Amino acid sequence: MSDSKTNGRNRPVAVFDSGLGGLTVTRALASLLPRENIIYFGDTARVPYGTKSERTIRRYAVEDVNFVLRFEPKLIVVACNTVSAIAMDHLRQTFRVPLIGVVEPGARAAVSATRRKRVGIIGTEATIASGAYQRAIRDLDSGIEILALSTPLLVPITEEGRDCNDVVVKAALKGYLAPLKDAGGDALVLGCTHYPLLKDALKNEMGDDVTVVDSAEETATEVRRFLDEKDMLCETPSFPQYRFFVSDSSQRFLSIGRRFFGADLVNVREISPDEFFFAK
Ligand code: DGL
Repeated sequence: MSDSKTNGRNRPVAVFDSGLGGLTVTRALASLLPRENIIYFGDTARVPYGTKSERTIRRYAVEDVNFVLRFEPKLIVVACNTVSAIAMDHLRQTFRVPLIGVVEPGARAAVSATRRKRVGIIGTEATIASGAYQRAIRDLDSGIEILALSTPLLVPITEEGRDCNDVVVKAALKGYLAPLKDAGGDALVLGCTHYPLLKDALKNEMGDDVTVVDSAEETATEVRRFLDEKDMLCETPSFPQYRFFVSDSSQRFLSIGRRFFGADLVNVREISPDEFFFAK
């Protein structure tokens, strides 16, 4: 095999998100692809994206990709559901690097999970308003009924560290998910980076016959399939290198992010605006 092919394989997978939520996707990647080197960027200075306009989300997304490109990744994972929902086409038109978002893998899993052809989706305001999950599901099966609900409170509730038995978590889920229970949906897509942390509470609220689709896990599976197909899986036997970059205080990222990543975060660096916009 040529050197350039070997070097290509060993280049990192870059993951970016509006903040720390994308660590759930990184965790899924790390568990499925334990040899891959990973660069993570969390735009903690400008989070949340889920309440911003489409124009702003597209601009932030381009800037985020430009930042991670300096690490010469072999693939970029758009971990943020809001960016995946709104900016994926724009990013694919703007950049040549392979990009994988979270919407298509989540939509595919929901279509295979539903038996009654009734799917619920929860996400940020921007994700739900974009209609991206709804379109992706209908493109696969136009006969599926979809109920899409924005559940913005779940992001701060998760970051606060409330567990699945917490009274506030239970009340929020009860209120948000009532229309989906009434509609008889049997698959629920977690269309936001934060929601995997609430999976047990969501399962309890929805009941046993509802399949909860975790977009983070589905995306990791998609990344593995892509790298395998392209013969780009990293082959170094040594421990992979993870590096995390944030655009605002790394303190909050370290303390809250630990729960999202499932392990201590090392190699975390806060970058300055100059480094973000101009450094090579
Ligand atoms: N990462 C975002 C998402 O998955 C949630 C946080 C935000 O609104 O930026 O949609």
